[in-house]
Amino acid sequence: MNLLSVDDLAITFETQEGSVKAVDKVSFDVKKGEIFALVGESGCGKSTTALSLMRLIPEPGKITSGKILFEGKDLLNVSENEMYSIRGKQIGMIFQNPLDSLNPVYTVGQQVVEGLLIDNMPKQEAWQRAIDIFDDVKISDSTQRVNSFPHELSGGMRQRVMIGMMLSRNPKLLIADEPTTALDVTIQAQILELLKELREKYNTSILVITHDFGIVAEIADRVGVMYAGKMVEVGDVYKIFENPSHPYTKLLMKALPRITKNQGRLETIPGNVPNLAKPPTGCRFHPRCPFAIDVCSKSQPEFIEIEEGHLCACHRGEF
Ligand SMILES: Nc1ncnc2c1ncn2[C@@H]1O[C@H](COP(=O)(O)OP(=O)(O)O)[C@@H](O)[C@H]1O
Ligand SMILES: [Mg+2]
Repeated sequence: MNLLSVDDLAITFETQEGSVKAVDKVSFDVKKGEIFALVGESGCGKSTTALSLMRLIPEPGKITSGKILFEGKDLLNVSENEMYSIRGKQIGMIFQNPLDSLNPVYTVGQQVVEGLLIDNMPKQEAWQRAIDIFDDVKISDSTQRVNSFPHELSGGMRQRVMIGMMLSRNPKLLIADEPTTALDVTIQAQILELLKELREKYNTSILVITHDFGIVAEIADRVGVMYAGKMVEVGDVYKIFENPSHPYTKLLMKALPRITKNQGRLETIPGNVPNLAKPPTGCRFHPRCPFAIDVCSKSQPEFIEIEEGHLCACHRGEF
């Protein structure tokens, strides 16, 4: 069953350069209890998509069409008041840099407790809950650590605090936008492991955003690949790894850093993500695509189901 259904979502930033179509008719679902990964290079519209789910797109961004169904209710139609109660309580969000979300002048414990008090939990119970949460996110010496200020903790610890703070209110969906990008690989692996563990314990769905297919492999049940504001492929992680269909997906997977095998330098995809004020005609990936043919620059490929639960938008998706 779907917790979240994003349907034909379009988001535009009106800039001096013109209209930047950061998200162009994007559709995907997040099922109850699953970890869904949105993957793509920087500038493809992943964060904009995520922020729209909280209705927090910065100016001059506007949602121009589409639906965001959360438990069947279109979040684009609810009042600002109702949206306020959904943020944090129903949908929590963590970012690459926890310091952007933590207040430097309060202890991390106070900040967790503050969220619980919003839900009318008695103060003493909230402090006990905060300590339990710190145990859940595997912060040792939880009774001491709740009294730390954010700057006294390491980057990995701060991200644990953020995860705990968000989960403490039992949201149905946790959005994690590049949650481990700023961390070194060992800590990164621990945080991913923690997220997997806690989604079971808290019965939360997770939407994780990353530019790294290695993280997708590590954590996701299903994956959506975004390129230049478009969703180009969606499917089960096993299917996508076994049988990637879109050339962008294939190249992005190849660009995976192979730490274990000593294969020399990291492959990157030649060229850059286009300026979304002037996206290429036809398939937006065609200027960088090694398989492009005439039709690719002329018409936009439809996003179609190529096998059960596996969708792809490519004129050459058959090979
Ligand atoms: N505040 C903004 N003003 C203008 N354009 C923006 C703004 N935020 C994002 N964009 C545009 O939206 C596109 C997608 O950005 P973003 O969602 O941050 O991508 P990603 O998270 O995949 O790196 C970018 O190419 C950028 O041009
Ligand atoms: Mg981003």
